[in-house]
Amino acid sequence: MSLVHILALVGVVGAAAPAVAQTAAPQPLPTPLIAQACRGCHGQAGLGMEGTPAIVGMDPATFQRLWGEFRANQRPATIMNRIARGYSDQEVATLAAYFAVRQ
Ligand code: HEC
Repeated sequence: MSLVHILALVGVVGAAAPAVAQTAAPQPLPTPLIAQACRGCHGQAGLGMEGTPAIVGMDPATFQRLWGEFRANQRPATIMNRIARGYSDQEVATLAAYFAVRQ
């Protein structure tokens, strides 16, 4: 392959890259799917298990306040301080609304 061919190939790939990045933009996960990650520890219905508190039926404002405290390491935690940093504000609001209602 000549240098011209290689440069042409790089040009094609370079031109195609932005289009690929646009179609691969992350989409928010459907609510039941992001809530799924919580059930392993908080129980299938979110009622808590040995060592984990219940999280259903919680007022959304309280849920978001606790979440903020976990993120800021202002609430005693073994694991939620780390988990809390993995979710965007929008996702936390979604989770708060979802778990406010008993499943
Ligand atoms: C690896 C286990 C684990 C997972 C996964 C997990 N949690 Fe927790 N969660 C805990 C534990 C343990 C606590 C108690 C605080 C601590 O020790 O970190 C807690 C505490 C909480 C609290 C505070 C409840 C209270 O009354 O103090 C909320 C709210 C909460 N979790 C929500 C969630 C949500 C929503 C998810 C899913 C995105 C989730 N947790 C995933 C283990 C987990």
